[in-house]
Amino acid sequence: MENFSFHNPTRIHFGRGQIAALAQELPADARVLLLAGGGSIKQNGVYDQVKKALGARVTHEFFGVEANPDYDTLMQAVAICRREKLDWVLPVGGGSVLDGAKFVAAATPYAGDPWEILTTRAAKVQGALAIGAVLTLPATGSEANSFAVISRRSIKEKLAFGSPHTFPRFSILDPETTFSLPARQIANGIGDAFCHVMEQYLTYPADAAVQDRFAEGLLRTLVEVAPRSLSEPTHYATRANFIWAATWALNGWIGAGVPQDWATHMIGHELTALHGIDHARTLAIVLPSLLQNQRAAKRAKLLQYAERVWDLRDGSEDARIDAAIAKTRAFYEALGIKTRLSDYGVRIETAAEVARRLQARGMAKLGERGEITPAKVEEILRAAA
Ligand code: NZQ
Ligand code: ZN
Repeated sequence: MENFSFHNPTRIHFGRGQIAALAQELPADARVLLLAGGGSIKQNGVYDQVKKALGARVTHEFFGVEANPDYDTLMQAVAICRREKLDWVLPVGGGSVLDGAKFVAAATPYAGDPWEILTTRAAKVQGALAIGAVLTLPATGSEANSFAVISRRSIKEKLAFGSPHTFPRFSILDPETTFSLPARQIANGIGDAFCHVMEQYLTYPADAAVQDRFAEGLLRTLVEVAPRSLSEPTHYATRANFIWAATWALNGWIGAGVPQDWATHMIGHELTALHGIDHARTLAIVLPSLLQNQRAAKRAKLLQYAERVWDLRDGSEDARIDAAIAKTRAFYEALGIKTRLSDYGVRIETAAEVARRLQARGMAKLGERGEITPAKVEEILRAAA
């Protein structure tokens, strides 16, 4: 195991009725920006619970954060925070709203052009408004990490940043808030969380028994809860286990001290920026193809994954690896998520375009060993046609 120093400061309030905990978490004199998306929280009763818990605190509201939150939209929220001298951002929604809140929190006190937060080293973020989150969509892990992914549609960009200042101080995870999610978003959430674990697990062995067993437990849990999460939207225990798995998939702990890949995500973000495909769907296109392309470099872990996640113990090593990759693709397809570029009407020319864009960003050596070059990216996408 590699050396590591890691601290996750986010306090979690988990379970039914936990939105009420806002009343204790937020100081009585907090000046709050309630940030939300397109309005789902007004239909499912979450907004009413939040308003009740906020009580008499000074609260401004900003609705309209898109899926794949947009820079220009978020800058309008930054203007409100600056004008009204707000000191807390309270995102209520899915990963997009939470990510948007992290950007707003960092951009509000930022002295330079806030676009720099995404394009230059995030170390320049020297402070942020306090963030407390109410999560309504298990998927990204944004509720317990410091990362945010922000899109800028006007110039077809989608970029990430992270800073120790943008961990939520607390996050509220009430499984009942997810009962209103459409099947498409449940599928996306499971598919995204699954890939987060894979990016930190399916690399090369690092003598990290705890991280490996945790990762395998999360993958198996996601596989187990997937059918019922879709067929019984109000089954509390199923949703509770799904949320908790999604939080653990990207709260930093399974990735501490181990090599990490993230090439699937970097390629996927380009597909969203260029073609508007849902985040999780881009991962479903890239992941099986990337595993196939990298099967030599990832051989030992692919065999471990085959045995411990999919119970594949018979046949030759290569046959087990083939079967494990096929199971991965079938898992996404069973969620209702297509795994080929052509399923989304994307032409093969995009393979070279994505490779070129990553190279231009200085991302010419992706993957756990820096072996996924632009040429490999192109190969991976061509094989996903
Ligand atoms: O906008 P509203 O009306 O709230 O509707 C949303 C949105 O249309 C809806 N929704 C959310 N909760 C609901 C609900 N509808 C009914 N009932 C509920 N309880 O779901 C739709 C999608 O929401 P969104 O927040 O976009 O989905 P998700 O949580 O999958 O977030 C995706 C974004 O997160 C980024 C992605 O790139 C993408 O921009 N990621 C963030 C990461 C992080 N911060 O660590 C890591 C991930 O890899 C990912 O890149
Ligand atoms: Zn993701």
